[in-house]
Amino acid sequence: MSNMELSESIRNEIISQISNCQPEELTSVKEFIESMREVSESRIGEVTLCRIIQRLFARSVNEFFSAEHVSMQMTRERILRYRASTSPDRINLPIIDMSLDVAFDDVVASRRSIRDYLARPLSIESFSTLLKRSFGKNGCEDGYGIRDIPLYPYPSMGGLSSFDIGIVVQNVESIPCGYYRYDQVGHALEPIISGDMRLALQDVTFESEWLMYAPIIVVVVNNAHAFTWKYHTRGYRMAHIDVGAAIQSLYLSACSMELGCCAVAGFLDDSINGLLGYDGLDQYVSIIAGVGEPAIPLLARGAQR
Ligand SMILES: Cc1cc2nc3c(=O)[nH]c(=O)nc-3n(C[C@H](O)[C@H](O)[C@H](O)COP(=O)(O)O)c2cc1C
Repeated sequence: MSNMELSESIRNEIISQISNCQPEELTSVKEFIESMREVSESRIGEVTLCRIIQRLFARSVNEFFSAEHVSMQMTRERILRYRASTSPDRINLPIIDMSLDVAFDDVVASRRSIRDYLARPLSIESFSTLLKRSFGKNGCEDGYGIRDIPLYPYPSMGGLSSFDIGIVVQNVESIPCGYYRYDQVGHALEPIISGDMRLALQDVTFESEWLMYAPIIVVVVNNAHAFTWKYHTRGYRMAHIDVGAAIQSLYLSACSMELGCCAVAGFLDDSINGLLGYDGLDQYVSIIAGVGEPAIPLLARGAQR
């Protein structure tokens, strides 16, 4: 095959591949091709893949600040992603007194990753307070031409809250074991999988046997639909920053209530996504965290240092 025929066949292959793309994927392909052209025109002797990718991401910055582009992509569903639970099995969580009787300095000084928990159920009051304080709606504001977009205890890119919160209940007073979605606005649980999930979770995690004894495991699930319409590929980077802010919110809230928590990245991506029902592309588990009453009180640990 001549060079000409070869490039013709590659061209046809590329055309056939991109004709199957979704509109959002096509935007990324176009960005990539544009960035390649810019790089080759800039007379850089050696163009590394790393540099091309860097340009691709840099280009997105200009693009996502273009009001015209954003307004074309903006829909009410994309921005107001909040979905109230409609399940008849929805569990409304009690509204509790959110006042703190511990100094913020003590909370920050005592925060540690805790993997040893007391073998007793988490009270419904503690469970409800922890979820509300860490992840529950705590305000709203108008934006993107839409009224009352929910706000949360953690910051997020564009205020879009790019993830969902799942909870594996293993030992909580009056809540059956299983996997639930936390409705952050309605402060309620929506059942997704019922039953004891401890052994199944052991299969998809490693070096985390102690998770068996955590009364709850918080699951942070990234949702690409929440941010790619505005931030494109660059959104994936910031989605991880959103998750970091949310995890710190969980750590500090847990510590403020004398609960221990530990983030866990030691899991098999495809297996945990499969177990919990996520496709691994648009929705994927970003981090999980065990929470429970610490075997040694946290604030006492802080005082010992
Ligand atoms: C993103 C992330 C992933 C983590 N993954 C694990 C893990 O898989 N297993 C574990 O035991 N601890 C994990 N940790 C906890 C760290 O080991 C812990 O934060 C670190 O040792 C510092 O201790 P400290 O949190 O008590 O200050 C993780 C923490 C973060 C922030």
